[in-house]
Amino acid sequence: MLKFPTALSMSFLLGVMLTVSCWAEREEKPREKRQADKLHITLLYESLCPDSRNFMHQLGPVHEELQQYMDIQLVPFGKSRSEQGGAIFHCQHGPAECEGNRVQSCVISSTANQSAQVKFVVCQMFALDSSRADQCASEAGLLTDVDHCADSETGTKLQLQAELVTKSYQPSFIPTIVYNGVFNQQLQDHSLRDFRGTVCHLLRQQNLLPSGSPVCQ
Ligand SMILES: *[C@@H]1O[C@H](CO)[C@@H](O)[C@H](O)[C@H]1NC(C)=O
Repeated sequence: MLKFPTALSMSFLLGVMLTVSCWAEREEKPREKRQADKLHITLLYESLCPDSRNFMHQLGPVHEELQQYMDIQLVPFGKSRSEQGGAIFHCQHGPAECEGNRVQSCVISSTANQSAQVKFVVCQMFALDSSRADQCASEAGLLTDVDHCADSETGTKLQLQAELVTKSYQPSFIPTIVYNGVFNQQLQDHSLRDFRGTVCHLLRQQNLLPSGSPVCQ
């Protein structure tokens, strides 16, 4: 006696919910809401890697153009590894790379301004050594005591965090570009060739651009 009306009211409720959500889909979303939805990008790279440096040629301009549609997480670690809980780090391109990764971790963590983070990282990646870090930081509008952080426990902690993030994706190639937290080989290959095209494709696919927007045309 009880089961039948329950099932009936359940399917009625479900029907109402489906109708409401379909109807809501068609409704124009408020502009602010769309703007809050961004494409999440995780960039796994390392400071002295030529392939990572090459990718910066794309990252700088694409970020400048599309920054309001993307949320980027820069992870300078790559194929490094820690030993003894961070007492020692080994890096693919030697100690100078470890130093560069540490410096970048420090500066990145010092600001929530992603535009400044990208500016700094791109500048630093084209510098021949980490001695230009202060200059790159000030060009990005960041007043950071880079050396203090890099030489401290904070630098170690940030690199251990970068290691955890990097390992969670088990990258076979550096740089690795991950969209919305899921690695996809095809998107990776496309990104290395045409980062802008890949980002634009995903922005359109995920409906993250306002309708009729001239962006990505
Ligand atoms: C973020 O950093 C950029 C690049 O340095 C700068 O032009 C911009 O004014 C900063 N934005 C804010 C909100 O501080």
